[in-house]
Amino acid sequence: MDRIKNPFSPGAGSPPPELAGRDGVMEDARVLLGRVKQKRPEKSLLLTGLRGVGKTVLLNEIDRIAQREGYHTVLIEAHEDKSLAALLVPHLRRVLFDLDRIKAAGEKVRRGIGVLKSFLGAIKFSYGELEFGLDIEPEQGSADSGDLEVDLPNLLVAVAEAAEERRTAVAILIDEIQYFSTSELSALIMAMHRMQQRQLPLVLIGAGLPILPGLAGESKSYAERLFNFPDIGPLSERDASKALQDPVRAMRVQFDADALKEIFRLTRGYPYFIQEWGYQAWNHATASPITLQVAQMASATVGDRLDRNFFRVRFDRLTPKEKEYLRAMAQLGSGPYRTADIARNLGAKMTTLGPVRASLIKKGMIYSPAHGDMAFTVPLFDEFMRRTIPFFESKAKRSSRSGKASTP
Ligand SMILES: Nc1ncnc2c1ncn2[C@@H]1O[C@H](COP(=O)(O)OP(=O)(O)OP(=O)(O)O)[C@@H](O)[C@H]1O
Ligand SMILES: [Mg+2]
Repeated sequence: MDRIKNPFSPGAGSPPPELAGRDGVMEDARVLLGRVKQKRPEKSLLLTGLRGVGKTVLLNEIDRIAQREGYHTVLIEAHEDKSLAALLVPHLRRVLFDLDRIKAAGEKVRRGIGVLKSFLGAIKFSYGELEFGLDIEPEQGSADSGDLEVDLPNLLVAVAEAAEERRTAVAILIDEIQYFSTSELSALIMAMHRMQQRQLPLVLIGAGLPILPGLAGESKSYAERLFNFPDIGPLSERDASKALQDPVRAMRVQFDADALKEIFRLTRGYPYFIQEWGYQAWNHATASPITLQVAQMASATVGDRLDRNFFRVRFDRLTPKEKEYLRAMAQLGSGPYRTADIARNLGAKMTTLGPVRASLIKKGMIYSPAHGDMAFTVPLFDEFMRRTIPFFESKAKRSSRSGKASTP
């Protein structure tokens, strides 16, 4: 069929032709934005889930709704190696300048700029030519203690008060939130705690891999009180069918029921895989309906493409030690895995595996769904690992075996 008209959209953050199965969380986001704007208390949202389930798509959608509702929005994506402060400052500066253009009496916006300047001094981050343009002195002692858990809440409160004065609201949306350090996360959580206490119109909505199990102590209990953590998971069979059928129906094409069944079996309902299968099935079909046979033909192409791209780019970033760790996980099935079992499988002591585990977490390959457990962040990665390295024996086990063999 006409490839130009192919409705499917595999790709990071690409809006799907049909946002299936997410009505509940979108409704929660609408209610949250509506309530915060009216300064009513509401738990905020941290959308968590594995790779390719549609978190970025949802966050972008929520950003659009917030803008439509009159929010000033800040949408940022965390990185492995960029600090929260460095990411936020240019955006907050823009928000404050936009607020400054709204005519109203009051000093809160100018104060906000002063606090931002003091924050900037304390984080000792060079912004080069980040020109403020306004003749406002940094407000000494407001957000310049150098302790992010104190300074960030003060800064965000100043921004929120500026928005309140201008009768508007601010939404900060952060993607890939798991990349922040624990002290950055706890600074954000403390800031939101202050917002809620003072009922200020600033909301934080995050998305990323599951972070709650990694938080500890006070931050964790605050986080649980301040945020809902909707689990963005695979789609049900019904929603998966809708995600495939509705976009093609709009073009007078349809999938046969057994083709939909087969695609669901292969994708397990994971949205990114659904887009890939839909896309290839459309290209393989010559006419409507898209049959089981077409779906099966498409599968070979999809499997190959996923192995060469989606999975492979992640695999290629790994050191040999990291690959070995992941392969030992995959040996144990689809997970989650007890860290002790992984160690046993590797023939290594658990304590010696700390660094490789930490670097895999930092690379976003694995996460800890519960204390003592590990799991892949990429759906079906265990199968890929077994396909790529069919035979597995750890280095430690191999050398002990060859050692034994050489002793008479
Ligand atoms: N509800 C949905 N129905 C159908 N397809 C969807 C849905 N949500 C997302 N997709 C598709 O899934 C793919 C991945 O979406 P997205 O990039 O938002 O995932 P993600 O969770 O942010 O992944 P990552 O953790 O890798 O950043 C995109 O191709 C998108 O079109
Ligand atoms: Mg994403």
